[in-house]
Amino acid sequence: MLKLPPILLQNEVRRCLTKPDFKLIRFTRKTSTISTEKSPPSYFITTPIFYVNSVPHIGHLYTALLADAHYRFRKLKDPDLNGIFSTGTDEHGMKVQQAALKTGASPQEYCNTVSEKFRHAFDQAAISYTHFIRTTDDNHKDVVTEIWNKLLDGGHLYRDDYSSWYSVQDETFLPGTQVEQRADGHHYSCESGHKVEWASEINWCFRLERQRESILKWINDKDPIRPAVFSNQVKAWLEDDRLGDISVSRPMSRLSWGVAVPGGEDTVYVWLDALVNYLTVAGYKNGSVSCWPPTVQVLGKDILKFHAIYWPAFLLALDMPLPERLLVHSHWLVEDVKMSKSLGNVLCPNDLINSYGSDATRYMLLREGVPHMDGNFCKHRMLHYLNLELADTLGNLLNRTCSTGVNPAQVIPPWKPLFQSYATELSSNLMEHLEKLPELVEQSYENFYFYQGIVHVMDALRITNQFVQEEKPWDLKKTNQERLEFVLALSLESLRISGILLKPIVPTLAETLLIKLNITPSQQTFQHTKKNTWSPCAQTNQSIIELDKQKVVLFRKIRE
Ligand code: MSP
Repeated sequence: MLKLPPILLQNEVRRCLTKPDFKLIRFTRKTSTISTEKSPPSYFITTPIFYVNSVPHIGHLYTALLADAHYRFRKLKDPDLNGIFSTGTDEHGMKVQQAALKTGASPQEYCNTVSEKFRHAFDQAAISYTHFIRTTDDNHKDVVTEIWNKLLDGGHLYRDDYSSWYSVQDETFLPGTQVEQRADGHHYSCESGHKVEWASEINWCFRLERQRESILKWINDKDPIRPAVFSNQVKAWLEDDRLGDISVSRPMSRLSWGVAVPGGEDTVYVWLDALVNYLTVAGYKNGSVSCWPPTVQVLGKDILKFHAIYWPAFLLALDMPLPERLLVHSHWLVEDVKMSKSLGNVLCPNDLINSYGSDATRYMLLREGVPHMDGNFCKHRMLHYLNLELADTLGNLLNRTCSTGVNPAQVIPPWKPLFQSYATELSSNLMEHLEKLPELVEQSYENFYFYQGIVHVMDALRITNQFVQEEKPWDLKKTNQERLEFVLALSLESLRISGILLKPIVPTLAETLLIKLNITPSQQTFQHTKKNTWSPCAQTNQSIIELDKQKVVLFRKIRE
């Protein structure tokens, strides 16, 4: 075991994590120790865990997709990456307790059914999570109990009379200043618009105030919240005098569906229970974890306060390093309207996947969604993009360049230095674009601007289509065999690079494309997009690649 200084700074932990032999990381009040065994995961991305009071919709899938595309991109960059990608379901609390009651099923049965729906939707959408956690799992409940005891022992909890408004839908207490009375006489949350009820009870409270300065310092020093607009919002909350401590329990007589507070008659507040899921995934036990802190935590803007204030406050109280990055995204509207059960406009991922397929659904959401602004799901527009980009720009290009009419030898010709003599403004432009493409896509994907990465790839493919159109390979076949090879080599190279870069977005479609081009899995890494066939190192060992014989239709046009 290795002893580390009393206060373990995040960077120091990270450095330790990169050493090959460490397995368990231990954070305690006075010392931090790391046991030396095996190399821990070096990348850890999380999604929020989803409430099971209702079935999955496209907003939920979007959160998971952002994390999935990022994880897939990191794996593209490092195929040996030992990473954790966690998602799961948030199954305790008043909201779920009430939803279960309405169905007549026991809460556990109810949770089993809905949790399975989330897992199924994510599996159908090819979300490549490594961990699917449920807060009703026994090991998670044990971690919540351990964390509770640690907070109590550390003097971070106290009993108090707590009177406040409670929103069951948001599972949060709200001060009077954030509540409004409407014409129907009921009170509602100003922020979410959800109904609130008055609660006056003796609860356990967490000393959030104690952590205020440290959280502010974390935000100022590390700038972990992206996009920046959300960071400003958090700073404003932290600078508001009214922040106060928070209640972290509810009387068991009101809320029985949850983790019991040790030795008492209370239930742990659902948000404390839920946030601890990230520690459970990290293998928290007896103050040790096998991987910490998370590299990126993805979350929607509605749960910013819980992740950017409560969560770091709990971690600080536990003497644990804070997440490296919080990636906040905005919401999806459907045809400009907020999704809601009562309006009947909730879009279910399974319906989309069954109608258009998993890749199309992924493409629609990642092509259209931007983290800093609400996205609008407009079916007409989405289908337009799918047909234009996946079917025409990408699919047709593959068909054209692989058809026997244009490519009778059914090969990717090797690059020859004399091809330079056929260069035109358009071909030079294309080569330049392809050379810059990996870096542009990397910047976009790393920052969760997947739409931007897609646009860069589509730009390259559009230029490739123009190039084919200009060169007319169907005529060259009869007039200039060598120039035909040049056209095929360059356009198929563009397809190869684009196919690899689209893997995080549309994994199945990209795989089909790369199989057609006979690119082996070991040649499908991000590194391989940086080596084009005309680069000096490639010219020495170039050989003909035979196209796969199977006929493929990459993306069938959707007609509605
Ligand atoms: N259970 C809590 C999270 C606990 S994490 C420790 C929760 N669950 S949720 O099911 O309501 O939301 C899960 C995620 O889905 C959140 O990131 C939320 O922002 C996201 N979305 C819910 N509706 C959404 C849209 N309409 N659009 C995009 N994402 C949305 O909060």
